[in-house]
Amino acid sequence: MTSLDDLFQAARAAQGRAYAPYSGFTVGAAVRDTDGRVHAGCNVENAAYPQGACAETGAISAMIQAGGRAIAEILVVGEGEHLVTPCGGCRQRIREFATPETPVHIAGLEGVRRTFRLDELLPFSFGPDNLADTGRGAR
Ligand code: THU
Repeated sequence: MTSLDDLFQAARAAQGRAYAPYSGFTVGAAVRDTDGRVHAGCNVENAAYPQGACAETGAISAMIQAGGRAIAEILVVGEGEHLVTPCGGCRQRIREFATPETPVHIAGLEGVRRTFRLDELLPFSFGPDNLADTGRGAR
């Protein structure tokens, strides 16, 4: 049992409940918040294709509704030989609740393959600090 087993298992369980009838590509994500709680999500597609939601989006929503406000680490799992890294939009959604150092673990069905820092995936990002600079910040 590694320290990532709980995240991996939560993401895999969520992946198993994905609604992906159009792409057939199921994804699971699990976030550990800074209180240590784990929140999971899966992709939810839609017949109006652009309205589909990614697994990371669902996991972040679950964290927020549970009262979490900060991501300690996040894990994404999907199949195939390529790394299932978060899409551009989800990198920005993660950014809202993370730091440049926040680990983003990318897993295949066999387990974690690579871990990135968020700022490797989204360098020079725009975030809450930009708004705070102007007195319009959320925190
Ligand atoms: N998808 C995710 O849920 N997360 C990712 O990191 C990559 C892609 C979903 C969106 C869509 O439902 C399917 O995978 C194929 O793109």
